[in-house]
Amino acid sequence: MDKFVIEGGRRLSGRVKISGAKNATLALMPLVLMAPGVFRLHNTPNIRDVWTMSRLLGEMGVHCELNGDELFLDSSNITSHEAPYEQVKKMRASINVLGPLVARYGEAKVSLPGGCAFGPRPVDLHLKGLEKLGAEITIENGYILAKTSGLRGAKIHFDISSVGATENVLSAAVLASGTTLLTNAALEPEVTAQARMLVKMGAKIYGIGTNTLEIEGVNELHAVEEENIPDRIEAATFLIAAAMTRGKVLLENVNAYHLSAVISKLEEAGCIIDVTGDTITIEMDSAPKPTDITTATYPGFPTDSQAQWLAFMMLATGTSKITDTIYHTRFHHVPELQRLGAKIEMAENTALVTGGAPLTGATVMSADLRASASLILAALVAEGRSEILRVYHLDRGYEAIEKKLNSLGASILRIKTEEF
Ligand code: UD1
Repeated sequence: MDKFVIEGGRRLSGRVKISGAKNATLALMPLVLMAPGVFRLHNTPNIRDVWTMSRLLGEMGVHCELNGDELFLDSSNITSHEAPYEQVKKMRASINVLGPLVARYGEAKVSLPGGCAFGPRPVDLHLKGLEKLGAEITIENGYILAKTSGLRGAKIHFDISSVGATENVLSAAVLASGTTLLTNAALEPEVTAQARMLVKMGAKIYGIGTNTLEIEGVNELHAVEEENIPDRIEAATFLIAAAMTRGKVLLENVNAYHLSAVISKLEEAGCIIDVTGDTITIEMDSAPKPTDITTATYPGFPTDSQAQWLAFMMLATGTSKITDTIYHTRFHHVPELQRLGAKIEMAENTALVTGGAPLTGATVMSADLRASASLILAALVAEGRSEILRVYHLDRGYEAIEKKLNSLGASILRIKTEEF
């Protein structure tokens, strides 16, 4: 696995283009299983998770090719309805193929995802929703086996607002006979992006962008060309990086509306933000004010930006509280940030960060994508040299992060290494 060697203390300035959203792409790609033909997805990020999904769909007979940011997918010849453990263990979002497969082919075999770096992550809501639509589900040898002679519309209330469960059940409901009502559906922009693509493919979905979705089943869908949304989490990471280095950076290809919670907190911390069209400029010339955050479902502060915010608050002029209500144990970055000198105390799912402690370079690592991003941010401001191991995890979700940061003035060297 590669590692990054980072020299801290450089101010970031300039312009950077944000890539298409990882999580939206991973919800859009499996939809090609629902209609035969040629699909084109624009604004697709060139990241490992997209390669993994391409390989998984490839094993099912979909021909995938990424040219620049255009992903070409030909689903004319589907030959398998199985998502094997080898792919699912690399990426939990592989489970997104379950709904499309069972809806179109009446059967699916998908490896059950295990826990992940930040705790148990059940899929009970995905399975309950599909069962309500008439799928028979059994678990055998670590696999979810789903079968149906035909899905039919149902009223489904999600006990917890879940992005993945909403995506899986929504895609299945589109081909179910009759009407389906989903309540407490997730509102995340990635879900909305998926619903919009389904509508373009011929689905009938009402209430898009709200937590109540009404779906009138249709018999078939057709292939489409679609534009992916920008990655709000990559954008938040770059905004925080600019603020931490007291820089001035313009982000291109962003949707500021999707970033309202993060922008509002950045302003509370003292950053100057300007939104013009699909760009955001951020400027910061002082230490941030201590600013508490509590993660929540959209439009609240995203759990995927919690680790980066925590790194930001290591520079604050006082103590701030960072609470994660979505994943209570998602704090693997804390011991690593402490190795750089951060003052952080944990109390259940809250981190108390006291800013201003001197940060000095160290060797750090994490097995979680966003935690790894927070380590890069900390290394950008730590005195001297840091090494970030297991860059593999960053490559899963950030397109060429070191190249983009270096173009803004950072000093990050990627070194090929066998170290694990
Ligand atoms: C998606 C995102 C992930 C983000 C998360 C929360 C993708 C590929 N990943 O993950 O980056 O951190 O949303 O915004 O889009 N839950 C259950 N049972 C279920 C499903 C979920 O109890 O069947 C719980 C989870 O443990 C968690 C909460 O619901 O506490 C929300 O999780 P969910 O929205 O489902 O996250 P993912 O879709 O897995």
